[in-house]
Amino acid sequence: MQIIERVLEMQRWSESERRQGRRIALVPTMGALHEGHLSLVRDGKVRGDRVVVSLFVNPAQFAPQEDFASYPRDFERDRELLNDTGTDVLFHPAVEEIYPEGFETRIEFGELSKPLCGAVRPGHFSGVATVVATLFNIVRPHVAIFGCKDYQQLQIIRRLVRDLNFDIEVIGHPTVREGDGLAMSSRNAYLNPEERKAALCLYRSLRHAEEMVRRGEWCGAAIVDAVRGEIAREPLARVEYATLCDPESLREVERVEETALLALAVRIGKARLIDNIILKP
Ligand code: PAJ
Repeated sequence: MQIIERVLEMQRWSESERRQGRRIALVPTMGALHEGHLSLVRDGKVRGDRVVVSLFVNPAQFAPQEDFASYPRDFERDRELLNDTGTDVLFHPAVEEIYPEGFETRIEFGELSKPLCGAVRPGHFSGVATVVATLFNIVRPHVAIFGCKDYQQLQIIRRLVRDLNFDIEVIGHPTVREGDGLAMSSRNAYLNPEERKAALCLYRSLRHAEEMVRRGEWCGAAIVDAVRGEIAREPLARVEYATLCDPESLREVERVEETALLALAVRIGKARLIDNIILKP
């Protein structure tokens, strides 16, 4: 596995691979890797001839009071995991390499960035879209893989690619879970054993909603109430949002018609956890 830290070197590598007719897959990450990330990398290996993983904790997507400084970082461990997973290039730029002195472009979003996480993390998706567009121009991938766990992020990147005409195929990879159902996340590291147990309420409530729909309950308010009720039974957990929305536009819906996205953000201790499920009648 090659480690590249410089933008110019990364661009040269990609150009050379492209000239040789190779298909490049990109998996953008912020490190603190877990099996969810590695599953994206394996997917990348199937979809491309070469896999590039970027590891960059992007300051632009953290608000001042958020966890940028304390975000878990363990480069040596990440490097080993990526090497063992067959990554071809680990792109690991310094902050000044991505945002040199004088950088002042930002990608702004419309409606898609307003609900769900966008409502509680203003500027977050602008920071994500800006860095992802930058990474796309540095790595020039043919295909880029993102997790469905961060569903709103995935939708925003799909729209970014469509609106700005990036010639890139965007893949949404299914959420990878622990054996007991908790969605894998770098932020799970913030949970103590008691909170880790409490965190199961997210998946439990999503499964409960799925079961309600299977039994014929299509009313959004009834489903969301049940989800909130399920989480309220867990004293360590506090719901930030529980919303039923259209999986494309992310606009809130009142009923599960064809498909609906049930999206959740829950605070447990220091951690802010998100999860979601697609409901189908
Ligand atoms: P990060 O949180 O490190 O996640 C990197 C990628 O892994 C994202 O596409 C995310 O959706 C995916 N992922 C995380 N947990 C997953 C799980 N349990 N199952 C499947 N996929 C999972 O998301 C970011 O970084 C950043 O916002 C980034 C896109 C890199 C831009 O800075």
